[in-house]
Amino acid sequence: MAFVESIVDRVRQVTGDQRVSLHEPSLKGNELAYVTECIQTGWVSSVGSFVDRFECDLARYTGAAHAVVVSNGTSALQIALHLSGVQPDDEVLVPALSFVATANAVRHNGAWPHFVDSEARTLGLDPQALDAHLDSIGERRGNHLYNRRTGRRISAVVPMHTFGHPVDMPTLSAVAARHGIVIVEDAAESLGSFLEGLHTGNFGACATLSFNGNKIVTTGGGGAIVTNDAELARRAKHLTTTAKRPHAWAFFHDEVAYNFRLPNLNAALGCAQLERIEVFIEAKRELAKRYAGAFAGFDGATLFLERPGTRSNYWLQTLILAPELAERRDEILQAANAAGLMTRPVWELLNTLPMYRECPAARLPVAEDLARRIVNLPSSPQLAGAA
Ligand SMILES: Cc1ncc(COP(=O)(O)O)c(C=O)c1O
Repeated sequence: MAFVESIVDRVRQVTGDQRVSLHEPSLKGNELAYVTECIQTGWVSSVGSFVDRFECDLARYTGAAHAVVVSNGTSALQIALHLSGVQPDDEVLVPALSFVATANAVRHNGAWPHFVDSEARTLGLDPQALDAHLDSIGERRGNHLYNRRTGRRISAVVPMHTFGHPVDMPTLSAVAARHGIVIVEDAAESLGSFLEGLHTGNFGACATLSFNGNKIVTTGGGGAIVTNDAELARRAKHLTTTAKRPHAWAFFHDEVAYNFRLPNLNAALGCAQLERIEVFIEAKRELAKRYAGAFAGFDGATLFLERPGTRSNYWLQTLILAPELAERRDEILQAANAAGLMTRPVWELLNTLPMYRECPAARLPVAEDLARRIVNLPSSPQLAGAA
């Protein structure tokens, strides 16, 4: 029991003596003013100046040439995969250690997730393990890669920057190029995270963001596709807005498309939130320092820290339990939650979920180990000074 109590005490040293949730949005900037403006002007729905501004602000902040805002991160990924060439019955390489939406977006395209391992130093997809796996199961035919075991084409890989920590994208880019597959980054958790000075999301054909209520900035619900490819951005806008040809009054739609638009009301929230993103990130980085200090010299667990060459947004603070404590993880979660400290395990590995059990998978030793040892700690920016 001593270990369990000690972990709860160390979290308390940082959070203070209060009930705390895992992540609460901070809405103390211009959110109310901008939303009020929508209501007063009547521009609450699917077009409006905040939609245009949010797209410009996101492009500027991420350094991508284009941003297209949509209804959520899952729909963003669905469209991003489609526009990157993923076809029904293809396979798409996805980390088993991810949120379910990463795999769902693949299935929404009629393609199949093919689960791959993660690495302990990034918590994200392991490019070297992927390279070895593709060497063993892949077969090049012309410009395409096929899975020798299933006969299906492997068209894309989706690295996900777990809890804001960037995947090793330079190595992954080399591996993807070698095997002839496209990269689509699931950057839902990594707005504000950089790798070698470049914002995550700029390493592949395109990337997707989420502005769900628990994310580093929120629009209530929302997402975006970011890309440096002007044609892909144009297609993304068209396909997510019912494929309506621009016209002053006529309704002409030129393909079967989607209504994945982000309402102006939500975009207004996004503009106000993005104005304060650096405040949130500074607070989260400070919080990481405090947790790291509280767990310094403790044998049972360590705080996961950004690696050199990266700047993490520290979206969710992550404790890695010592291997010998893995089997006590649920006891730790039980004690912390009972004490009013909202802590969570990482997701169940996707390849173990009922709808994905039969999908192809590489060996997953690191993901399986991490899944038993990760505990996410209270991560709201308000815990370290942000209002
Ligand atoms: C890794 C990852 N991918 C995709 C999503 C999907 O985003 P949304 O909830 O906005 O659909 C999320 C978060 O919710 C996520 O964490």
